[in-house]
Formats: sequence, C-alpha cells, structure tokens
Amino acid sequence: MRKKIVAGNWKMHNDLQDSKNLINGIVKGLQNENVNCEVIVCPPYTSLSEAAGLLKGSIVKLGAQNMHFEDKGAFTGEISAAMLKSAGCEYVILGHSERRTIFNESDELINKKVKKAFSRGLKPIFCVGETLSEREGGVTNDVVKRQVIQGLMDVPEPDLTNMILAYEPVWAIGTGKTASPEQAQEVHAFIRSLIKDLYSEQAAGKMVIQYGGSVKPENAAELLSKNDIDGALVGGACLKPDSFLGIIKSA
Ligand code: PGA
Repeated sequence: MRKKIVAGNWKMHNDLQDSKNLINGIVKGLQNENVNCEVIVCPPYTSLSEAAGLLKGSIVKLGAQNMHFEDKGAFTGEISAAMLKSAGCEYVILGHSERRTIFNESDELINKKVKKAFSRGLKPIFCVGETLSEREGGVTNDVVKRQVIQGLMDVPEPDLTNMILAYEPVWAIGTGKTASPEQAQEVHAFIRSLIKDLYSEQAAGKMVIQYGGSVKPENAAELLSKNDIDGALVGGACLKPDSFLGIIKSA
C-alpha cells in the first residue's frame, strides 16, 4: 500500500506574517485529527526558516519550491540544496510547469537539479505534465514520457523511494479546470508503467504519484480514490487553512 501525500505549493504568495498565520492554521486544524497521510507545505524561500520553527513537533513536513543545481558560487539570486536543508526542508519541488514555461527550464536542467537534490539529501517532488495544445494534439503520453525519462536520467533505482512524482496537466493548473479522475488516472497508470519499463515492477509499485491541477476539497476525494493517484500537489486551495485541511481529510 502506498501512503497518500498531500503537498501545498504556495508559489509566490504570503509574506512572513501571512505565512505564520497559514502554518498556525494548518497545524491547529490537524491537532486533533487522525491523519493517515503525509502532509507537506512549500512556502516561499523567505518564510522557510520561520515555517520550520512553527512546524516542529507537528506531522507537517517542509519543502521548497525550487533550487539551483550548483553547490555554491556566483549565481546571484539562486538558492542551493544545502541552504534549503539548513533552513529545515525535507522536500523540494522541481520541474514545476511554471519553472519550465516562464523560466525556460529544460529537461536537462531539471535533471541536474533532481540529481543534486538526491545527493544533498533532499527529496524531489518532480513535476511533469502536458500543455493544452499537447493534449489536444494527442501527444500527452509522448510529452510525459520524455519529461520522465530525461528528468530521471542517471537516477538509480534506490533513489526513487526518496521522491514524489507529480503529474500536473498544465491546462489544469490555476485554471479551475481539473482533469477528470479518469483522465488523471489514465496518465498516472501510464507513468507507473513507464517506471516499470525504466526500472522495475517493484519500483513502479512503490512510486508515489501525486495529481496536481485545480485540486479542491470538492474534487479531492474522487481523484484520490483512483488506483494510481497517490496524493495531491495543491496550489490555490492550499492558501487557506480550511480548504487545505479539507483536501487532507479527503486523503
Ligand atoms: P493549482 O496549482 O492547484 O492552483 O491548480 C497546482 C500547482 O501548480 O501545483
């Protein structure tokens, strides 16, 4: 049995005070709940240390939204894996579609980040997904396959247990348009079969594959009931304690 994992990607939202309020709201809301999924929050860099302090003793884990693949050096504006570790992060989102499209991140660059994260003891939440025109052009599986193969290039099988794969159709992110549970399940099953081909049946069976794209309390239970959907990567709906908690309860 794979455990469900719900992660909140705060994106570029919440200053320090807003971050404290949101963390406190989530922690308080989970206090007397019997939660049997893993919960991760990914605030902006500026709130990570503060969040780590507030999350001490809670079940909620901390992640960042991006990182650079080099250890240190003249890379103005960038953040290293070691910096994230020292701020208290266990996870890091890599290859998010906003990084791919707005910041031109290539599969090759994302692969460097994925490997660096593993080598520094951070767990990647590695995102893949097709755009609307790719879906309409019937190349969803080809795109996802390329992203998975190139993103995981030279990643040895034992590392796979220390990562999450997130399928996030770009057309469903922040649009209110969710993939139907059947559409999502189909791609999740495809990704799992790909992991089986690239690695092994065992690796495929253990791989946690989250769905992301307009997940809300209203649609989470149905999405998460599908065989190959092992959790959710949540954007908009993770910015209010009540809606994030609603999704966690569905899981
Ligand atoms: P959304 O974002 O839930 O607002 O669609 C998901 C994501 O980008 O991870």
